Amino acid sequence: MTSQFSKKSEAWSARFSEPVSDLVKRYTASVFFDNRMASVDIQGSLAHAEMLQAQNIISAQDYADIQRGMAQISAEIENGQFEWLLDLEDVHLNIEKRLTELVGDAGKRLHTGRSRNDQVATDIRLYMRIAIDQIVDLIAQFRLALLDLAEKHSDTILPGFTHMQVAQPITFGHHILAYVEMFGRDAERMNDCRRRVNRLPLGAAALAGTTFPIDRLRVAKTLGFDDVCHNSLDAVSDRDFAIEFCAAASLIMTHISRMSEELIIWMSPRVGFIDIADRFCTGSSIMPQKKNPDVPELARGKTGRVNGNLISLLTLMKGQPLAYNKDNQEDKEPLFDTVDTLVDTLRIFADMATGISVKPEAMRAAALQGYATATDLADYLVKKGLPFRDAHEAVALAVRTCVEKNCDLSEMSLLELQSFSSLISDDVFAVLTLEGSVAARDHVGGTAPNQVRAAISRLRQQLTK
Ligand code: ARG
Repeated sequence: MTSQFSKKSEAWSARFSEPVSDLVKRYTASVFFDNRMASVDIQGSLAHAEMLQAQNIISAQDYADIQRGMAQISAEIENGQFEWLLDLEDVHLNIEKRLTELVGDAGKRLHTGRSRNDQVATDIRLYMRIAIDQIVDLIAQFRLALLDLAEKHSDTILPGFTHMQVAQPITFGHHILAYVEMFGRDAERMNDCRRRVNRLPLGAAALAGTTFPIDRLRVAKTLGFDDVCHNSLDAVSDRDFAIEFCAAASLIMTHISRMSEELIIWMSPRVGFIDIADRFCTGSSIMPQKKNPDVPELARGKTGRVNGNLISLLTLMKGQPLAYNKDNQEDKEPLFDTVDTLVDTLRIFADMATGISVKPEAMRAAALQGYATATDLADYLVKKGLPFRDAHEAVALAVRTCVEKNCDLSEMSLLELQSFSSLISDDVFAVLTLEGSVAARDHVGGTAPNQVRAAISRLRQQLTK
């Protein structure tokens, strides 16, 4: 591993009288992990060089040489031929050094009016822009897969829970749509974060700006940034945009984790509401009967590391005086790990959503236990003129009797039911069915199957336009 990182460098040799130790070299280097920003680093350098040339800071020949050299470097990186050197510390110095090897003085002129401080801030933003677009796209795919699942089960009834106790009957489609809403807000948050990511730090140089007549707006335009960062100190030092991204990522993982928890419970043989396709599960090395929901469990676990990454970045930032400090080099691993974890998780969940099979009979059987239609009976009495609090009391008594007799509300005779309120007549039984209960919640945001179908078509339209 270390042999390819052993060439000597003279990045700033003139100022120093002794070389750093190998341990310090390894400790301070970031090339092992920041070389994933190579292509955006080159993109940023080319935009900078183009501007330098347009402003007559470097010659047209220099710019042409830089373009030629960078094309070769891109190819070398792509074929895996590029030799990343630990001695050259990071992605920026590795590429610049190779450029100089290839094109001579033009390579040495590239860094005019620029510092690694504004360069790295630019690279991170370019990298994050791509990552955010990919994540937003994956969220859309995941939501579409969830919409398909919800559509298949807009009539399937299961108990809705509060406090993990049967509360009221709901449709499975409605339950899934709750997640579609959550992930919709997650995509909004990512896009909102992108607006603040998409500003150009380049031109801030080390911290104070540069003495060269640069044209920052030109570079911003070339690189597709909406604006430039308006204060050079801020431009090189703050990583709030990365923190914001990690916060948005934590929320996505939190939603994924809640869904995972439900999938795990639903798949437990004790509950048996769903099955998850074998390709997302594994067995046990000792217990032959096991089929474990590994993917949801791991996603729930990985939420911890994504939350941890957010805390790492917040902690990294909080003690730093202006402007750039080397601490900021530590922003990359948590950020990259968050991107990797999120991308993999979303990709796998979009696929897994198509591998969830629902067991409507088990859901129905569960909904028939626990007096899920008690609220419907209370609402029925209110519609017959009883004040809600009195209706609540009457039904509570009825449920208590049912508990004693070990039967459901719908299994009591009309006569028995009437002992709790004389307002009850034989139209009550329609209200006590699961279908009657869900169909009655027929308003925007309610669980009625026709509302679920309307919500699905509205969401699908939003997602496919
Ligand atoms: N590798 C460094 C980072 O990630 C690049 C900037 C270094 N700047 C400096 N002044 N040492 O932040």
